[in-house]
Amino acid sequence: MDIAIIYSSNTGNTKTIAETIKKELKNENVVYFGTTTKEIPVADIYFIGSWTNKGNASDDIIEFVKQIKNKKIAYFGTAGYGGSESYYQTLFERIKVYIDSSNKILGYFYCQGKMPIQVRERYEKMITEHPDDANLKVNIKNFDEALTHPDNVDLENVKKWTNNMLKNN
Ligand SMILES: Cc1cc2nc3c(=O)[nH]c(=O)nc-3n(C[C@H](O)[C@H](O)[C@H](O)COP(=O)(O)O)c2cc1C
Repeated sequence: MDIAIIYSSNTGNTKTIAETIKKELKNENVVYFGTTTKEIPVADIYFIGSWTNKGNASDDIIEFVKQIKNKKIAYFGTAGYGGSESYYQTLFERIKVYIDSSNKILGYFYCQGKMPIQVRERYEKMITEHPDDANLKVNIKNFDEALTHPDNVDLENVKKWTNNMLKNN
């Protein structure tokens, strides 16, 4: 099968997921692996992935998925806030809005991805100003939990998911 893997990654987390998918597809013909392109590669299945930017996929991925019609799509993403399937589902619903109904969505995968240290520093500064803010404490805890992700369990999960996508096809 011809497979295209298109991703957007600022700090490398989503790229790691994309590379893991590519490795897992060793018996398939990966015709494209990289960031969004003007010319849409011709493939049977499109693995499309993004980091989470203010509650949605990156702008380049939103623009890219809008152009895909009559294809099979497997969507993947990383997010700073993790550990909750319902949060991942919400994120997927937000990108799904831009996926044309002529496409077949094979499934989606998310995992947590570490964030830049500046995010924690911002929370720390805020907490000195608002020491009783429970949300800020949760955010710092979550930041620390994200630091090890994507981890080996995430990568094993994405490998399984990749194979399921081929079966769903
Ligand atoms: C500007 C900015 C906005 C972000 N917004 C969110 C967000 O709304 N929700 C979330 O879960 N993570 C958010 N994150 C965290 C990233 O999506 C997460 O760390 C992701 O794994 C980064 O992937 P990358 O390394 O492929 O760029 C944000 C990060 C940055 C830098």
